[in-house]
Amino acid sequence: MTATVKPLTAEAGASPPVIRLIDVYKSFGEHPVLVGLNLDVPRGKLTTVIGRSGGGKSVLLKHLIGLIRPDSGHVLVLDTDITLLGQRELNEIRKKFAMLFQGSALFDSLSVFENVAFPLREKTTLKEKEIRQKVLEMLEQVGLTGMEQKYPSELSGGMRKRAGLARALVLGPEIMLFDEPTTGLDPLLARTIHQLIQETQRRYGFTAVMVSHEIPEIFEISDYVAMLLDGKIAEMAPSDQFVRTQNPAIQEFINGGKEALHPDLSPAAGGAAAVQEARRP
Ligand SMILES: Nc1ncnc2c1ncn2[C@@H]1O[C@H](COP(=O)(O)OP(=O)(O)O)[C@@H](O)[C@H]1O
Ligand SMILES: [Mg+2]
Repeated sequence: MTATVKPLTAEAGASPPVIRLIDVYKSFGEHPVLVGLNLDVPRGKLTTVIGRSGGGKSVLLKHLIGLIRPDSGHVLVLDTDITLLGQRELNEIRKKFAMLFQGSALFDSLSVFENVAFPLREKTTLKEKEIRQKVLEMLEQVGLTGMEQKYPSELSGGMRKRAGLARALVLGPEIMLFDEPTTGLDPLLARTIHQLIQETQRRYGFTAVMVSHEIPEIFEISDYVAMLLDGKIAEMAPSDQFVRTQNPAIQEFINGGKEALHPDLSPAAGGAAAVQEARRP
């Protein structure tokens, strides 16, 4: 047999990172947010960035897609330094991306079907029949079969997230960015959305970078976890190794999250979601 079978452990290290942040600095006025940050995003994996509220996670995510330019440093997307690109070239590179931010940002006046069809109508020349087929496939993937004709106002929070996910996925992005996609959902619903994100990532194989404050849940679904601390990635590791980190600041952050998420700790405060919210500074 000459065919080689790649050992499972070689998967991430073997292919070059899809995105690299190299020595990135970013301040707003006098306020430094990113200070010499380095991050390699592995191809075809789900990497989750954690860190305290206001620590710069959203700012980091916006650097990946060129919505924010660093004061100095480099952002390589598939080996192209996007900090050097003009608007046109940047728009070209952005076609590889899709983003799902906190709100699902659906168009209220469009049905679920039309919301998901929107990027196809806007960016492709697909025929109506093909559009229909693709939209229905995406809706099935996110568990919204039969909801095509509903309007966003008729959907629950979880369903709106699902519809937003379907719309983000419909053009088949290489890279998906999720900024706290479960914000505003109760813990059970947050869990199903996380699982859906993981399942979709596995199925389509895109590279995913997610920002989340849902600890410890994200350890179950993420391939890699990276901790943003004091403007840098203090540690990045496969999820199962990350939880065993020796870094005391990270340990404290993780364990703080675990306690805060334990519903027994504060039944009076309205369960885990309320405690989790309260924990955020
Ligand atoms: N466009 C902006 N202008 C000025 N300050 C900003 C801007 N975006 C973010 N910041 C500041 O950068 C810091 C990090 O913000 P953010 O990335 O949103 O934090 P996180 O997502 O980790 O909660 C905050 O202090 C925030 O006020
Ligand atoms: Mg944020």
